[in-house]
Amino acid sequence: MMTKSDYEAVGVMPVMVIEKLEHAVPLARALQAGGIKALEITLRSDVAWQAIETIKKEVEDIAVGVGTISNAEQLERAAKLELDFAISPGLTANLLAASKDLDIAFLPGVATPSELIMGMEGGLECFKFFPAEAAGGIPMLKSFAGPYPQISFCPTGGISMKNVKDYLALPNVMCVGGSWLAEKQHVQAENWAAITDCAKETLAHIG
Ligand code: 3PG
Repeated sequence: MMTKSDYEAVGVMPVMVIEKLEHAVPLARALQAGGIKALEITLRSDVAWQAIETIKKEVEDIAVGVGTISNAEQLERAAKLELDFAISPGLTANLLAASKDLDIAFLPGVATPSELIMGMEGGLECFKFFPAEAAGGIPMLKSFAGPYPQISFCPTGGISMKNVKDYLALPNVMCVGGSWLAEKQHVQAENWAAITDCAKETLAHIG
């Protein structure tokens, strides 16, 4: 079960889209070789759940989470698989209620104070901030810190090497996520070395 300090230790988290099951393990291993400590595998492909199960079984010493959680059934499935965390782009009353009954670290997405308050009412203190750049980016996170300095965020959406450091410098950012760490063109070309290099370069950049 991921806690705030676990997310802080992660720093950057790849948002992964796995279209082919045979890419699952090499991609996860390439990221791990580059120093990545946690993976978000999105439910944006037909083989996503199989890819998650395979990575969980075959790749050790890395936190495995699912993204794009959009209903209670998906959250239940994630809990049954004993995943380290489950991420949603948003937050609904249904998802919040389901997460309370399940033994899984749930990281829902928020983009407004009302969504944030709803999550806080459910006892949550860690959220995804999505879509980060489109929803106000760094100024929005600074604004959230005014009334709610105790709340921590994992911004995703529009983050890259260009701005990752600026996001991580904010006191209310515990880690950041993004697809730049698992670029589609490299995955399609099975260029695992490029994936490892990008992770290494990112970790060196954030220091
Ligand atoms: C997500 O699902 O968290 C985002 O789509 C990732 O956004 P990015 O592709 O801009 O990094």
